[in-house]
Amino acid sequence: MQRTILCTLFLLVQAVHVYADETDAAIANLPEGPERSSIELGRHIVLDTPRYAPGHVPGGMSCASCHIDGGTRPNASPWYGITGVLPAYSARSGTAVTLEQRINDCFRRSENGVPLALDSMEMKALVAYMSFLSRGIAPRQFGPGRGMGHLASARDPDTAHGQAIYIQKCAACHSASGSGMRSGATYAVPPLWGDASYNIGASMARVGPAAAFIAHNMPLGQGGSLSDQDAIDIASYVNSHPRPDYADKAADWPNGDKPEDARY
Ligand code: HEC
Ligand code: HEC
Repeated sequence: MQRTILCTLFLLVQAVHVYADETDAAIANLPEGPERSSIELGRHIVLDTPRYAPGHVPGGMSCASCHIDGGTRPNASPWYGITGVLPAYSARSGTAVTLEQRINDCFRRSENGVPLALDSMEMKALVAYMSFLSRGIAPRQFGPGRGMGHLASARDPDTAHGQAIYIQKCAACHSASGSGMRSGATYAVPPLWGDASYNIGASMARVGPAAAFIAHNMPLGQGGSLSDQDAIDIASYVNSHPRPDYADKAADWPNGDKPEDARY
């Protein structure tokens, strides 16, 4: 039984990761030198964050746990064009946010981890990688599917119904306890709640963004198969569980404009 699940998981993960090869091939075609090395390091950090940014993600999730295929998947918050749209005003911080600050927001919130030094090799590598993905896209433009996409319907969530579908469609990979499936220092399937998951300060902790991500991308390899309402119900179930607190939450939305589904 366990073996069948693992084989199916392996095949699905392989199918989904075909896109990723194109990015690796494009990087391999760049002239050798420090710039290519930095772009390569950036991609490694995104795909295997615990190994390439040691000490910064104690929970063990990678950026690519959410930014599927390393930020190249529409509606899984891709980065095609990101260097031309930031800095930009963020209602959450009440200030203009640079790309480096946005990256560290994901370290502190989505990864419940430790930010990178702004002048570190790792930060420069992440910016180099995102600049590489943004090549050829005019400033203020963006590739397809920025963010997590949008949902057409927005009725109130039915958390009990979300639990029933979760058991049916998600638990085989993410487990009934939401703990995911480990593979060494990182995850073959990332956790959805508990100490190793994103904290309450993350966008994914809000039902709206989580439901949009789930509707477009999950179950892995079958994105678009759930109804919007089912995705909202499951997102509500996932986010009804305990997860880490966010220490700096009192500083968020200093000028108002707090989204309705904010956690605090
Ligand atoms: C738990 C899921 C999750 C993880 C893990 C995660 N992020 Fe994010 N990230 C998000 C969400 C959600 C958004 C907001 C998307 C939106 O605007 O709708 C986001 C946004 C971003 C953005 C801005 C995108 C834009 O279009 O403005 C950047 C850059 C980014 N993340 C980088 C990273 C990096 C680098 C890592 C790894 C250190 C990481 N993220 C890990 C969920 C995650
Ligand atoms: C076939 C296995 C599989 C199934 C089934 C599956 N997932 Fe995932 N899920 C993954 C993997 C693997 C990732 C990380 C992305 C990657 O590696 O491409 C992921 C990532 C996620 C993430 C973002 C990362 C995190 O841990 O927060 C969420 C949220 C999520 N899945 C929710 C769901 C929900 C809800 C369902 C059921 C509707 C579901 N998944 C079904 C394998 C699966």
